[in-house]
Parts: sequence; structure tokens; C-alpha cells
Amino acid sequence: MTDDIRIRRTAQSKLGQVDWNHLPFGRIFSDHMLVMDYADAAWQTPEIVPYGPISMQPCNATLHYGQTIFEGMKAIRAADGRITLFRPELNARRFNESCQRLCMPSIDEARFVELLKALVRCERDWVPASAESSLYLRPFLFATDELLGVRPSETYKFMVIACPAGAYYAKPVSVKIEEHYTRAAEGGTGRAKTAGNYAASLLPTKLAHDEGFDQLIWTDGKEHRYIEESGTMNLVLVIDGVILTPSEDSDTILRSVVKRSVVDLAKHWGLPVEERRISVEELVAAIRDGRLQDAFGAGTAATIAPIAEIGLRGERFALPPVETRTLSTRIKAYLDGIKSGAIADELGWCV
Ligand code: COI
Repeated sequence: MTDDIRIRRTAQSKLGQVDWNHLPFGRIFSDHMLVMDYADAAWQTPEIVPYGPISMQPCNATLHYGQTIFEGMKAIRAADGRITLFRPELNARRFNESCQRLCMPSIDEARFVELLKALVRCERDWVPASAESSLYLRPFLFATDELLGVRPSETYKFMVIACPAGAYYAKPVSVKIEEHYTRAAEGGTGRAKTAGNYAASLLPTKLAHDEGFDQLIWTDGKEHRYIEESGTMNLVLVIDGVILTPSEDSDTILRSVVKRSVVDLAKHWGLPVEERRISVEELVAAIRDGRLQDAFGAGTAATIAPIAEIGLRGERFALPPVETRTLSTRIKAYLDGIKSGAIADELGWCV
């Protein structure tokens, strides 16, 4: 199915310049990238070409109106050298959901996964050997019409770039519950993985950084009463032994592949899980009463990121020590184990 991909290899690999012990997220890019244009109402022949600049006119529609979406995935090297992707079909599905919301042409799910695999095969030497690192894959799609009129573009560019990267968060995170700014409103674009959601988060996140927090916990846009997600990751809590996560019924929360896997796994293990609305009040009462046992972010870049501290209205609550967290420790060990090959992948998640 990928026989049609044209491959033009770089004359000068950058592999020798990489410091494999220091892989900051999103700064070092592999030798090649995948490019596939959409024109005349059809996807054109994909190409894998040397990583490098692309040219565009100043009137490119994406630059003005933000018609662009992306995904985040990882290629991981198992202990025996095999390279796998984690549940890539879920990313393909979410990519197409984002396309639909942003009026963009979709890509057949199987084709999407095949294109990703083709780039990873080409970049196999860029997949780090260390268990804590991976080759982060960033598929993205953007409008390329040259026009200042506000309407869906008729031409697009799909690209995949790749960067060897370590953990997004190097240590447990401190997060602030945001009750003024809004990430997403019902009926808006919150469920789509589109650039505008991230642009809108920059100022509130910067203000939180200035107060010493790593990230925000967004609350609903209507009442700022219910917790939603964390921008770079989704949220999972354990209160009174029950695993809780904000339900994705409203269209304000991105459907995280890792969060879905946490829920699927917890159910598979027979643990109690509830996907429902969780109020700020319920969360804070549980912390105050010592009933909150675990809290973590789940995301592709963030992986399983323990939350060490939560801030609300000027108060800071220290959460239970990370060493006492049984759920996040067990989930992380399982996910790391199936990816490295140390644990049998009984659910068939590693492709
Ligand atoms: C990912 O986890 O892949 C993401 O896209 C989050 C990103 C904004 C760092």
C-alpha cells in the first residue's frame, strides 16, 4: 500500500551530531520528513524527503486563519530492537475527527498508519535505544490556499516530522486550577487537536509559570466549576479507591489515546473506573480530607506524569508522595513493559 511513496534520501545524515544522553523535547529533528499534498480534490503521491524548510506565500491561509491540525505519536524501540507504534489507529481516528471539525480532507485510517510506518522505517536509526526515550512523531495538516478570504482551503499539505525525545516532564508536575481563562467552550474546537487551542493557552499558562506552576488544570468554560484537561495531557485521579477522569461527552476535551488506555486497562484489571464530571470542590475536598490517593496526567508526550501539587485561588496543596501511588506506578510499569517487550502485550496495543 505504500509502494507509491517516493523517497529522496539526504546526502548528509545528522545522526552523528546527536547527543543521545540529552534529548530535549521537540528540538532535534531526524533526517527525513513525509510530505503529501492535497489538490484537485485528491491526495497526491506522498514523498519522504530530507528534513528542511518549506516555502509559502505570506497570504497562506493557515498563517491568517489557523486551519491546521496535528497529532502526537511515538515510535519506541523494544529491548530486542523491534520498533513499535502505540495504538496508532486511535491517532488516525482522532486525526480525522479533527479534520472534520476544521473542514479539512480526511486520510483513510489504514493509509495514515501506513504512511507513519513508512517514515519510521526510513528513520529507524533515529529511534532511541533507551527505555525512557522514543522517536516522537508529529503528523500535521495545514491549509495552503493563497487567499485572504475566510473559507475552507481547497489545497492542503500533510506532513510528518520526527524528533528523538526524552520525557516531556522530567519530574512530577505542579498544576494550577484555572478559573478565569477558558480553553474550550461547548460547541467550540476543544475536542480537535488544532493549533488555536494551544495558542489560546499560552497566556494563561505563562501566568501560571510566573507563579511557579508547570501547567494548568482547565475548568469548563460555562461555570469554571468542573475540571477538564491539562492542555498537554488529560487527567486521572484516584479518590477513595475509585479511578476518576473527566468524561469526554462534552466536546471540550481532547480524546487522549493514553488516557483511553488507562481507562481500558483499569477496566481490564477489574478496577472501579468512573468517567464523569468532577467538580473543583469535589477534588479539593478529597485532597483536604486525605481521600485523594493518586493524580496524574496522561498524554503521548507527557506519558504518565504524576501531579505533585495542585494550586487553587492562591492555596497550594501537596499531593501524596509519588512512591505511595499504586495506580500510576502500576499503569506506567505495564505500558513501559509492553513497549519494551518485558511484559506480554495481551491487548495487542503495540503495532
Ligand atoms: C502530545 O502529547 O503528543 C501532544 O501533542 C502534546 C503536546 C502539545 C506536547
